[in-house]
Amino acid sequence: MTAFTINGRAVDLAAEPDIPLLWVIREHLKLTGTKFGCGIAQCGACTVHVNGEPTRSCVTLLQDVAGRQVTTIEGLAPDTSHPLQQAWIAEQVPQCGYCQSGQIMQAAALLNSNPNPSREQIVEHMDGNICRCGTYVRIISAIQRAAREA
Ligand code: FES
Ligand code: FES
Repeated sequence: MTAFTINGRAVDLAAEPDIPLLWVIREHLKLTGTKFGCGIAQCGACTVHVNGEPTRSCVTLLQDVAGRQVTTIEGLAPDTSHPLQQAWIAEQVPQCGYCQSGQIMQAAALLNSNPNPSREQIVEHMDGNICRCGTYVRIISAIQRAAREA
């Protein structure tokens, strides 16, 4: 059994300790907002927070989060009231949408540590999150809007 917290809820999971956290989130806990992209920490689609840090859940094992707090896109703000979610809507960021929960979770970690980032800091922080639809300009605009309006 591995005990941890997800989106503020305590769970105690009977699963192999070396399965990826991403499978736990999607298959065991049925939280499907977090996406599988590459499986090798190269795209950011699977990004969640572990104790507040942006984390690639595809290469994080269940045993790595024992006793820790995991937050997925579903737990960021269940009513979509988070400034980033509102900014994402206002800027009409997504195209296919597949990468977007990872983008938002990565951006949320930035604003938690730096509420007013420069454009350069945004670009640097978001550098590892790939969007095949090329929504990068709108992602930057949305982060800047969220920082302004938070
Ligand atoms: S699926 Fe985890 S980084 Fe691509
Ligand atoms: S919106 Fe399609 S991959 Fe990013």
